[in-house]
Amino acid sequence: MFPCPTALVVTGTMENANIVTIAWVSLLTSQPPTLGISVGTRGYSGEAIKANKDFTVNIASVEIMTETDFCGIRSGKDIDKFSETGLTKMPSKIVSSPIIKECPLNLECRLTDWRIIGRTNHFVGEIMETHVDTDKLRDKADIGSIDIRAFDPLIYIGGVREYRCIGEKVGDPYQIGNQLKK
Ligand SMILES: Cc1cc2nc3c(=O)[nH]c(=O)nc-3n(C[C@H](O)[C@H](O)[C@H](O)COP(=O)(O)O)c2cc1C
Repeated sequence: MFPCPTALVVTGTMENANIVTIAWVSLLTSQPPTLGISVGTRGYSGEAIKANKDFTVNIASVEIMTETDFCGIRSGKDIDKFSETGLTKMPSKIVSSPIIKECPLNLECRLTDWRIIGRTNHFVGEIMETHVDTDKLRDKADIGSIDIRAFDPLIYIGGVREYRCIGEKVGDPYQIGNQLKK
């Protein structure tokens, strides 16, 4: 599947938090708002999510590519990824897992369901709170009005293993298809 967003999932508490890089993240439902993440059973983060019953999903920008990659090649079993990367931990509003200041979008999630398939934990999180950098919105009063250029999300291409940035707009979804209607 490509492209994938590159998310930094934070688990734990302000005192003891970990960051894991996750590309397998997807919205599942809008009512209630839920998302799913796939987290390997061999890492540190899966057990932390089960213990804490929440996590945050923080979307990485190109600016923090190196820090994001670091969090995907080191384990929280061995190191404190916040102090190693210099990323800034901030308290969430509702859940106990912190959010990352440098990420333009943060989603606070409460664990509502999970199961293991093969060697992967599949976690379902209900999005309890959303934080967006308002300077990355076209209209500061409208949380949905993302200025994607300013946002500059870090895109992951699996298979060939490349990080990329977003390209040009090529059309208007839910409209352009009308050109084929008779
Ligand atoms: C770009 C990128 C994407 C990744 N996506 C996932 C993923 O979707 N699921 C997963 O379990 N691990 C993924 N990983 C690997 C984990 O981030 C890695 O195993 C990490 O070291 C586990 O950290 P932890 O032991 O602190 O939980 C990814 C790594 C990178 C670099």
